[in-house]
Amino acid sequence: MDVLFFAEDEDAPAWADVLASALPEARVHRFADGDKASCDYAVCWKPPADFFHGQSCLKAIMNLGAGVDAILDGRALPAGVPLVRVTDAGMGEQMEEYVAWCALRALRRTDDYARQQARSQWRQLPFTPRASFSIGIMGLGVLGARVARYLVGMGFAVRGWSRSRQAIAGVTCHAGADERAAFLAASNLLVCLLPLTEATRGILDRDLMLGLPAGAHVVGIGRGGHLIEADLLALLDNGHLAGATLDVFAAEPLPADSPLWRHPRITITPHISAQTVIEVSMRQIADKIRRIERGLPVDGLIDRVRGY
Ligand code: NAP
Ligand code: GLV
Repeated sequence: MDVLFFAEDEDAPAWADVLASALPEARVHRFADGDKASCDYAVCWKPPADFFHGQSCLKAIMNLGAGVDAILDGRALPAGVPLVRVTDAGMGEQMEEYVAWCALRALRRTDDYARQQARSQWRQLPFTPRASFSIGIMGLGVLGARVARYLVGMGFAVRGWSRSRQAIAGVTCHAGADERAAFLAASNLLVCLLPLTEATRGILDRDLMLGLPAGAHVVGIGRGGHLIEADLLALLDNGHLAGATLDVFAAEPLPADSPLWRHPRITITPHISAQTVIEVSMRQIADKIRRIERGLPVDGLIDRVRGY
């Protein structure tokens, strides 16, 4: 079996070695080294435009990440070849931690206390019980559902919103456009864990964020393309929103002159809310390839029309 590998990452050569160890029955060809052998599988993350040239025998394309927006965006993907993404693979636990960090900061107003400290100000702010602080999660897929369950376990009131109706113990689940307003109106902290698709690009706009209760927080950990940055800045400046924590951006790295960097109510992290755990991801990809070889179904098969 021959596998073509490319990852847009400085550690890509080491990742190819991890893939080779996880799948010893395969020959792993590194596209970056100029090896363009005709292969049975492609394993990739943000491949260059010519990555698939001449690959007419692919049985599947394995996306080394949860989001497939980059690979679906403009690259000449071979038609009819199954596209399979990584599912969780160590990212769910990190997402739980990241959202818990955001939730506790917002609940206990630690960003406000940090601003007070900068002014040497001693002032006790009103206390909110955890059970009455509602967290709304947009996207109840592999990661969103896991985060929702974790927050329920912490004692938060948790809501979720997805395309089709989900059922998660302890979570008030909303579905579709008709239930979006009710979902938003009850979300003190809004977490976006949607995939970036035609339907979700720019979804975090003025209209949506005005639907949140006054003083709400926004957490962007899906993709930067969800957020209309100017709308967020305007709603922070006029006081409708209390704060935002952003991990993903339309342009990454976030340009040095972006006003987001300097806004006092925005916390920025560099796309680390869930980092790739390479050994776990490669083991999962190897398992999926073996299942495909045996004619078995795999998790994470992408519907190209839906975009996720
Ligand atoms: P997933 O399992 O495919 O879940 C996607 C969820 O979004 C599903 O619940 C889906 O609804 C919902 N959804 C999709 N389109 C919708 C729409 N138009 N309206 C309402 N709901 C919609 O994906 P995942 O594995 O949880 O990952 C989610 C995203 O997280 C990835 O696509 C990626 O962009 C992002 N991510 C970010 C990082 C980071 O470090 N920042 C790391 C990993 C992933 P249904 O349940 O009805 O299908
Ligand atoms: C990271 O952002 C991923 O989609 O896996």
